[in-house]
Amino acid sequence: MTPSEARRLRDDLDRRGGRLVFTNGCFDLLHAGHVRYLQEARHLGDALIIGLNSDESVRELKGPTRPLNGECDRAEVLSSLRAVDGVVIFNGKRATPLIEQIQPHVYAKGGDYTPETLDPGEKAALDAAGTDIQILSLVPNRSTTGIIQKMTASESAPAPLRLGVLGSGEGSNLRALLDAIDSGRLNARIVAAISDQEDSGFLNIAKSGGLPSHAVDGGPNPRRFDNAAQQHVADILQKQQVDVVVLTGFMKILKEPVLDAFAGRIVNVHPSLLPAHKGATAVQDAIDAGDKVTGCTVHLVTREIDAGRILAQAEVPILDGDDAASLHRRIKEQEHRLLPEVLSQWRKIPG
Ligand code: GAR
Repeated sequence: MTPSEARRLRDDLDRRGGRLVFTNGCFDLLHAGHVRYLQEARHLGDALIIGLNSDESVRELKGPTRPLNGECDRAEVLSSLRAVDGVVIFNGKRATPLIEQIQPHVYAKGGDYTPETLDPGEKAALDAAGTDIQILSLVPNRSTTGIIQKMTASESAPAPLRLGVLGSGEGSNLRALLDAIDSGRLNARIVAAISDQEDSGFLNIAKSGGLPSHAVDGGPNPRRFDNAAQQHVADILQKQQVDVVVLTGFMKILKEPVLDAFAGRIVNVHPSLLPAHKGATAVQDAIDAGDKVTGCTVHLVTREIDAGRILAQAEVPILDGDDAASLHRRIKEQEHRLLPEVLSQWRKIPG
């Protein structure tokens, strides 16, 4: 819209007893804060015109890296909003000449201003036109600068570690990994959750967490994980470009081709202080051995079971009256802390 078209709209409204609302800004990266603000502004009258800073004036106001979007694009996006009746592009830092020409009935400005802190030139032009100045409440936590900061921060941050997590049981370690990712303690993405048990807590947690979930059929012998199953797991992990494979109570033995494809990149969590009590009954074995202390181990997986390089351990005392269930519960508390911690340091672990 040209300034004279905007003025004509104002005069038309005036004749009909209506009110033209005017606001101005750069609107470089439109966000919900802008949209709500413009809707509120529109409700102050019968039509809303936006004075949009030209590219040259945005550079003057915000520096040489702005605007991100050119004036024609910004005007097109703004014009498509239901609240907006017209956009007028203007040069110069201030909208004073435009205000003088349009003489809007209402001037709307975001809540980081007060009538006192408005630009004196703009304020004088508004007063001369008898314009009603309205300061609108600011929408919190929404700003173009904030969005740009987030985008540049995420660009410079290292890419999240792509995890493939395998489990057969309750899935509490999977939940702990998800919590660590959510809270920002672990910069990772779980790109595959794989189980040999279709009805496991592990797969339920994976599915309700929206993770790509896979039940892999281990084959006819329940004690084995046959060659087709090994290949199926390898295919999923490779397709998802997994950086680290994490075994959280995966009760089948992984072999080729997974071990080769991910050598040095498969981590297991085991409920004992390895090398003590290898195997599937480690918690009960520690009690039966009369140990006073057990714990958990995070280690690399190799061909030899529970024997790869130890990355971290945590101790857990065995209390009088402990049975396997009560002791395992306390061991898991340590696992939930230790496993995300090790993974968060993954890129610093010497190869
Ligand atoms: C964990 O305690 C893990 O150490 C153990 O299975 C549990 C899985 O719990 N792993 C082994 O015993 C491997 N030999 P979760 O399903 O609640 O994460």
